[in-house]
Amino acid sequence: MKRKLLLCPPDYYGIEYEINPWMDRTHNAAPDLARAQWQRLLETLESLGCEINLVPPQPKLPDMVFTANAGLVAGKKFVRSNFRYAERRGEEAYFERWFIERGYESVRLPESLYFEGEGDALFCGEILFCGYRFRSDIRSHQLLGEVLERLAISIELVQDRFYHLDTCFCPLPDGGAMWYPAAFDEYGQKAIRHHVTDLIDVSPEEAAHFACNAVVLGPDIVLADDSPKLSAALKLRGYRTHELSMTEFIKAGGACKCLTLFI
Ligand code: ARG
Repeated sequence: MKRKLLLCPPDYYGIEYEINPWMDRTHNAAPDLARAQWQRLLETLESLGCEINLVPPQPKLPDMVFTANAGLVAGKKFVRSNFRYAERRGEEAYFERWFIERGYESVRLPESLYFEGEGDALFCGEILFCGYRFRSDIRSHQLLGEVLERLAISIELVQDRFYHLDTCFCPLPDGGAMWYPAAFDEYGQKAIRHHVTDLIDVSPEEAAHFACNAVVLGPDIVLADDSPKLSAALKLRGYRTHELSMTEFIKAGGACKCLTLFI
C-alpha cells in the first residue's frame, strides 16, 4: 500500500520568531538551501513509493512547512491541532480546510486544550504515545484516545530542546522504537520501557542532530544525516537508512519527520 504524506513547500519558511530554544532570529535559514533540502526530502519519499500531497503555503506562516503539527489523522478522521503559540495558530484553518475539502471529518478538541498533532502523538503498534508539557496539554490525550478509540499513553517531556515527542521518540515497525531517554522523566522512561520492547537509545549528540525525527516507511528510514551510530544500529536490524542534510530546518527546531504528516 502506498503511504500518503502531506508536505508544505517552504515558500514562506524562515526564522521570524522564537518559540523553541532552537530558533534564533539572528540565525535565519538560507532560502535556497532550505528549498533544496526540502525538495530532496520530497524526492526521497517519492522514490520510496510515497504519494505526496501538498498543502499550499501561506505568507506570514513560516512554520507551516512543519505539517506534522497540522493535526493527527486516523482513517478519515482529522483531529486538528490547537497550537500553543499565537505565531502558529493561523495555520489551523488552512490545514483544516485542506482536509475537509478532501472528505475528511474534522474533529476539534476543546479550544482550551493545546494539542500539536502528530508532532506530539505517535502510534506505536496499537498504542498512541502522546507527549506533553512544552506544547500539547496532557488533558488533550485522554480525549484523543476516546475520539480515536485507542489507548493513549501520556509521557512527559522534560528537556526544552526536545519539546515535541517526535524530536525524541520514533516507533519502528518491528514493535521497537528509537528514543533519546534523557528527554523523558523517570515515569515516562518506565512507561516507554514497559510498552516497547527493543529500544534503540540515541546518544545526546545524535539526538541533537534530530536523529529521532525520522520518517519510517517499513524497512526504509529517512532521517537527518550526522548520526552514524544510530544509522549503524538501524542497519544492523535490517533497516535501510536514507540520510539527508536538514541544517536549515533544524534552525527552526525540526527535521524530516516534522516536515511530513501521514494522512
Ligand atoms: N518552529 C516549529 C515550532 O516550534 C518547529 C516545529 C517542529 N515540528 C515537530 N513536529 N517537531 O513549532
